[in-house]
Amino acid sequence: MADTLVKWNDNLSVGNALIDSQHQELVRLTNELYAGTRLGGATAKVYFLKAVRGVMAYVKEHFSAEEEIMQQVNYPEYAEHKRQHEDFVAELFNAVRKFDNEENLVAEGLVKYLMDWILEHIAGSDKKYMPYLADLNKEK
Ligand SMILES: [Fe+2]
Repeated sequence: MADTLVKWNDNLSVGNALIDSQHQELVRLTNELYAGTRLGGATAKVYFLKAVRGVMAYVKEHFSAEEEIMQQVNYPEYAEHKRQHEDFVAELFNAVRKFDNEENLVAEGLVKYLMDWILEHIAGSDKKYMPYLADLNKEK
């Protein structure tokens, strides 16, 4: 589909079914936001704000799940990872705040930010806790 910006692939998998499915949802929401930036006009504005709120609500739930798992397995880089999550949420708030003044610029910038986040954070930082999840599976 032409409106797809990011595609899920196995390189993004962290080897945990719950986290992977949440990351897939984040990919879907990013593509939805991307589709919204291509609408133009008043529809785009409503669509954008609705989609960003969707992303915010979703990442809140997702980050909590991820942070809980990292704590369970005593992930040593927990604090740094949590900081990255907090920066991400702050960036979303920032985008919404700025949106009224520079609509298109902000919408496109945010979509790019989300895409980079998925490619860098999920494929980078999130994958670093993968070895620790093996311990979690053993404990079950
Ligand atoms: Fe993460």
